[in-house]
Amino acid sequence: MEVIESISEMKNLVKEWKRRGLSLGFVPTMGYLHEGHFALVRRAKELSDRVVVSIFVNPIQFAPGEDYQRYPRDLERDKALLEKEGVDVLFSPKVEEMYPPGFQTYVEVKELSLGLCGRYRAGHFVGVATVVLKLFNIVQPDIAVFGEKDYQQLKVIQRMVQDLNLDVKIIPHPIVREEDGLAMSSRNTYLSPEERKSAIALYKALNLAEELVNQGERRVNLLKEKLKEFIESFPYTKVQYIEFVHPETLKEVERVDEPTLLALAVFVGKARLIDNKIIIPKS
Ligand code: PAJ
Repeated sequence: MEVIESISEMKNLVKEWKRRGLSLGFVPTMGYLHEGHFALVRRAKELSDRVVVSIFVNPIQFAPGEDYQRYPRDLERDKALLEKEGVDVLFSPKVEEMYPPGFQTYVEVKELSLGLCGRYRAGHFVGVATVVLKLFNIVQPDIAVFGEKDYQQLKVIQRMVQDLNLDVKIIPHPIVREEDGLAMSSRNTYLSPEERKSAIALYKALNLAEELVNQGERRVNLLKEKLKEFIESFPYTKVQYIEFVHPETLKEVERVDEPTLLALAVFVGKARLIDNKIIIPKS
């Protein structure tokens, strides 16, 4: 596996691959890799002749006061694991090269960024869309794999690709979970052993919601109340939001009569965890 830091070097290698007619798959990440990331990498490998994984903790997608500084990093460990997965290139650009002095161009996907995490993380999706567009321009992939764990992010990227006529196919990948159901996340490392036990509240709440809907409760207000009470019965938890939205527009709904995305953001201790599920009411 080649490790490339320089943007021009990455572009030159991609040019060479294209000249040889090879197809290219891409998985952008912020590192501290886990099985969720590797599942995306394996999917990319199935679909392409060459696979690039990027590791870049993107400063512009963290709001002031968020965890940019303490976000977990271990490039050596990530390198070894990606090597084992048979990845062709690890692209890990430096912040100074991605955002040199004078940088001032940003991508905003307007409506899809307003609700859910966007309401609480000022500028987050502008930061995500901007860095992903830059990475797409550098790597020029035919396909790129994104996890449904960050569902709003996936929708923002799909919209950007459509609106800006990008030549990349976005491949969604289902959420990869720990054995007890906790969605895998680099941020799970923030959890103490006691908090880790409470973190299961998110997954359990998604399943409880599905049960309640199938028992006939379709009113979102009531569902939200029950879910908040359920989640906060676990120690160290504090709900940031519980939202039921249309799976494509991400607009809030009042009743769960159609397939509806239930999205959760919950603080467990200092860790902010998210999870989601599409609830399909049995009629
Ligand atoms: P990061 O959180 O490292 O996630 C990289 C990719 O892995 C994203 O597509 C994310 O949805 C996916 N992923 C993470 N945990 C997952 C899980 N448990 N199951 C399935 N997929 C999972 O998301 C980002 O980085 C950044 O915002 C990025 C897109 C790289 C832009 O900076």
